[in-house]
Amino acid sequence: MSEISGVRVRELAEQFGTPLYVYDESAMRKQLQTFTDSFQSNVLDTRVIYASKAFNCKAMIELVREYGCGLDVVSGGELYTALKTDFNPAHIYFHGNNKTPTEIRMALDGGVGTFVIDNEMEAAELLKQIKNTETDVFLRINPGIEAHTHQYIVTAHVDSKFGFSLLEKDVITETARKLQASGTIHVRGIHAHIGSQIFDKQAYVELVRKMFAFAKELNDLNVPVSEINLGGGFGAYYTAEDHPVPVQEVCETILRTCEEENEKNGGIIRRILIEPGRSIVAEAGSTLYTVGYLKKTPNKHYVFVDGGMSDNIRPALYQAKYDAYVADRENEPVFTDYTVAGKCCESGDILIESIPLPEVHTGDILVVKTTGAYGYSMASHYNKLPFPAVVFVKDGKAREVIERESYEHMTALEKQEERS
Ligand code: LLP
Repeated sequence: MSEISGVRVRELAEQFGTPLYVYDESAMRKQLQTFTDSFQSNVLDTRVIYASKAFNCKAMIELVREYGCGLDVVSGGELYTALKTDFNPAHIYFHGNNKTPTEIRMALDGGVGTFVIDNEMEAAELLKQIKNTETDVFLRINPGIEAHTHQYIVTAHVDSKFGFSLLEKDVITETARKLQASGTIHVRGIHAHIGSQIFDKQAYVELVRKMFAFAKELNDLNVPVSEINLGGGFGAYYTAEDHPVPVQEVCETILRTCEEENEKNGGIIRRILIEPGRSIVAEAGSTLYTVGYLKKTPNKHYVFVDGGMSDNIRPALYQAKYDAYVADRENEPVFTDYTVAGKCCESGDILIESIPLPEVHTGDILVVKTTGAYGYSMASHYNKLPFPAVVFVKDGKAREVIERESYEHMTALEKQEERS
C-alpha cells in the first residue's frame, strides 16, 4: 500500500480531496537539518537562508524558524506572510529587482534585517525612505557565470535583469558609498545567484573565486564588505536523468574554497551565506490527482487528471520532467507508456510526456513526485481552477496547512452591478 510518511495515499485523497499537494514534513526537516549541519566552518561564520519563493506559506516559515535559518522573500506577499508568523524579521533578506516603494516601506516598518539591493534606482529609493532605521544591505552582483540549467532559469548572463554587472564597478562602488554615507545603512556584503537546479560543483567554485576577488577589490577601494551570499541553485532529484550533488558534498566544496580564498585575500570576509530553496522542499512534495477519463489516440495512451498546468506549470514552462506512480499499484507490471495530461484548455498542458505505468483506471490516484518546489508557488487560476489544499504529513499524521480554495474564495473580490 502506498504511503507518505506513514499515511495511506488513498486516505489523504479521500480526506482532503484532489488535486492535493502533500509534503513529507520529516523529509523537509531532514533537509533543513542537513543544510544547517553541513554548512559549518571553523573559520568563517555561516548562515543558511531558505529561499521561500520555492514554497512560501506560514507553516513552512515556522518550520524554517525552528532550524534557525534566515528567510529570503522577494515580494510584499512573501514578506507579509512571514510577518504574520513568529519569524524574527531581523533574519529576513529582502530580494527582488523591482521592489516597489510600498514594499520597501513595508519592509522597513516590519523590521526586515537585510535588503539585497539589485540596482541603482532601488538604492536611491531606500535612501529616500530610510530615516532613522538601521538596516543592513547586500549588493546583488551579476558575476557573469552561467550554470548549466535551462536557459529560463539562468539568471547571471550579461544582459540579466538581475543585479549590478561586474563590468560596472564604478557604479557599484558609487552606490555602496552613497548607501554608507547615510549612516544608518550598512553595506555588509555582496550577493550573487547563478541559476537553479545546478549539478556542477565547479560552478560554485568559480563563483566563490569571483566573489572573493571582487570583495577584495571593494575593500581596497574602501568599501569594507565582510559577507558573501552565494545564492541558491542546489539540485534536486526529479527523474533518473538528474544527478544532484549531495548537500554535504556541495557545502563542503563551497566552504573549503571560501576558506582558501579568504586566506589568500587577507581574511576580509567573516560570514558566508547560501540560499537554498528547491533543494529543501522539492523532493518532500508530491501531488495527488484523481484519474478521470482515459483516451487512446493512434500514438498515445492518455491519462487525464483533475489538475494540470494550473498546479504545476513547470513541464509546460521549462519542459521539466517528473516521475509518478499509481497509488497502491506500485508493484503491478507495466501495461504501457502513458501520457499524463491535465484538464486545462491548452495542448501544452501535459504533466508527463511518457511514463510506464500499470494499467490505469478511472478513480485511481496518480501521485506525481518531487513537486514540492515551485509547484504551489507558481500555481495559477487558469480556467478558474481553485488552488489545491496543502497537507503536511509526519509520523502517520496529516495536518492541513493551506485549505483548498473554494469557488466562493475565488469570486469573493469580484464586483457585480446590482440587478434591478
Ligand atoms: N536566491 C535567489 C536570489 C534566487 O533568485 C533564487 C531562485 C534562489 C535563491 C533559490 O534557488 P533554488 O535553490 O530554489 O534553485 N521557477 C524556477 C526556478 C526559479 C528560481 C529563481 N530564483 C523553477 O521552477 O525551476
